[in-house]
Amino acid sequence: MCGIVGYVGPAVPSTRPLDVALEGLARLEYRGYDSAGVALVTPTGLATAKRAGKLANLREALEADPLPPATAGIGHTRWATHGAPTDANAHPQLSADGRLAVIHNGIIENFAPLKAELLEAGVPFTSETDTEVAAHLLGRAYDETGGLTAAMLAVTRRLEGAFTLLAMHAEEPGTVVGARLNSPLVVGLGDGENYLGSDVAAFIGHTREALELGQDQVVTITAEEVRVVDGDGTPATGRRYTVDWDANAAVKGGFATFMDKEIHDQPKAVADTLLGRHDGAGNLVLDELRIEPAVLRSVDKIIVVACGTAAYAGHVAKYAIEHWCRIPVEVELAHEFRYRDPVVSEKTLVVAISQSGETMDTIMAIRHAREQGAKVLAVVNTHGSTIARESDAVLYTHAGPEVAVASTKAFLAQITACYLLGLYLAELRGNKYADEVADYLAELGKLPAKIQELLDREGEVRAVAEAMKDVTSVLFLGRHVGYPVALEGALKLKELAYIHAEGFAAGELKHGPIALIEEGQPVFVVVPTPRRPTLHAKVVSNIQEVRARGARTLVIAEEGDEAVTAFADVVFRVPRTPTLMMPLVTVVPLQIFASALATAKGLDVDQPRNLAKSVTVE
Ligand code: G6P
Repeated sequence: MCGIVGYVGPAVPSTRPLDVALEGLARLEYRGYDSAGVALVTPTGLATAKRAGKLANLREALEADPLPPATAGIGHTRWATHGAPTDANAHPQLSADGRLAVIHNGIIENFAPLKAELLEAGVPFTSETDTEVAAHLLGRAYDETGGLTAAMLAVTRRLEGAFTLLAMHAEEPGTVVGARLNSPLVVGLGDGENYLGSDVAAFIGHTREALELGQDQVVTITAEEVRVVDGDGTPATGRRYTVDWDANAAVKGGFATFMDKEIHDQPKAVADTLLGRHDGAGNLVLDELRIEPAVLRSVDKIIVVACGTAAYAGHVAKYAIEHWCRIPVEVELAHEFRYRDPVVSEKTLVVAISQSGETMDTIMAIRHAREQGAKVLAVVNTHGSTIARESDAVLYTHAGPEVAVASTKAFLAQITACYLLGLYLAELRGNKYADEVADYLAELGKLPAKIQELLDREGEVRAVAEAMKDVTSVLFLGRHVGYPVALEGALKLKELAYIHAEGFAAGELKHGPIALIEEGQPVFVVVPTPRRPTLHAKVVSNIQEVRARGARTLVIAEEGDEAVTAFADVVFRVPRTPTLMMPLVTVVPLQIFASALATAKGLDVDQPRNLAKSVTVE
């Protein structure tokens, strides 16, 4: 959700605080894009600008009415929760005296009684946001304590919920204070300047040195210093690390959109996720799995918790892990998990999959699982994120920064990482011999080249997508591992092209969905390899069943699979691939299709309406 950036630089006022804030917001805009705003500390007090709509609107406003030079700045890009995306509800929000500015990500759950208390005391409100409550409370606490850090500590004790706050005050021109309560915040360490951000993208253009904060901590940055304290004011230290990607990884690199660039990053995302995890002789090297082998041997159930595309990656992994390890695997949407009283014990391994590592529903699920005694293993893309920090072990997906809101390369990297985990468990528990594991690893190693082959032929898919830009409904069918691929294909089309799209298990067709088929209805079918004849034959029958009822069939099938040709209006070929690895190739044409169709409709594929990349509220 909302993107946050903070900066403190040299004591001589300049345009740098505004430049840093705007650059950070451009990189963070994927987190939310309903409105954007900045506040600066200038020699004559605070200066702010904010606008509803995308960052471009704020930039226009700043060009028309520039802000003065400053020593510190904060910037915010919003995904609205409390109050519509208007100028008034955009952040920063100011204290009643206009001397203190606040930006905020997350939700202050007890804002209503606090607002009532402030209204009672005669404090005027100018927005509908929960953020403004924090601004007024901080303004009053500042007057009482005389310091921004002390005010932040006092106010955060009164606030409930999950949120990050950044504040500055006109009286402290060289300071920005941040608080992290169950919501992301990271420090960027510069030379004579320091940064705060919702994630490292906020400052990656300036420094790769970062400091990870813990929950319930308050951080004060000046140009020269970073001070961290726990919620009770006790000094604390963050963990320093170097970000392993640079600003170039988060630019479009010649592609029209981040979505296209990230689809094309997929061979590398898979290769990098495999890199260093085997010794070249076919032996797995997963030192990062800090859970004791004895504990992993005793696991009697795996529950995958995740949301969105990450949940579909878990769904794919279920087929492989159950087959390889003979452990039952449940896949649960993280937001459903906690509320259904799941059966979890110390023999349960909970695998949390998340690109951002900040999805609040997934965070709450892993906390619940750990309270029940389960071990939690995170498959996460973002270093030092909350899910990575709060899990017993982390298997990072090395997909690099994913900027487009809808997930693509993270999906492939998540499946790859889960497969490494499955093979590791299978060998550890004696379900697979080392040479069998080596064979699977060799197959995984061939995938980047196969994905590249599909990308080299993307024009075929694009042409079909462009010709279909006026369709209003598309169905997706798949069986076995093709089923989650069908679900993901439908999700991509909904997210990017705003078209009604549904994915079904092909076997379910005759139990209802076939009633949707009418003349011309486009139906994608993900066909398994013909080397699984029974499975394959069933899906070929399903193609015939929908075609007989007028459907236009778009079939994704392996090279050389001629059985589908007679029943397919369009065939997209994928390279010959073992059954369990097929999702890593069959999903690629579906991603390209959704992106190309949305582009043909003139839509913003990187920032689809209403969505946010990182859903940090429940
Ligand atoms: C949002 C994004 C999806 C993503 C999901 C889970 O809904 O739009 O693309 O799959 O969150 O995000 P995570 O960061 O936990 O993988």
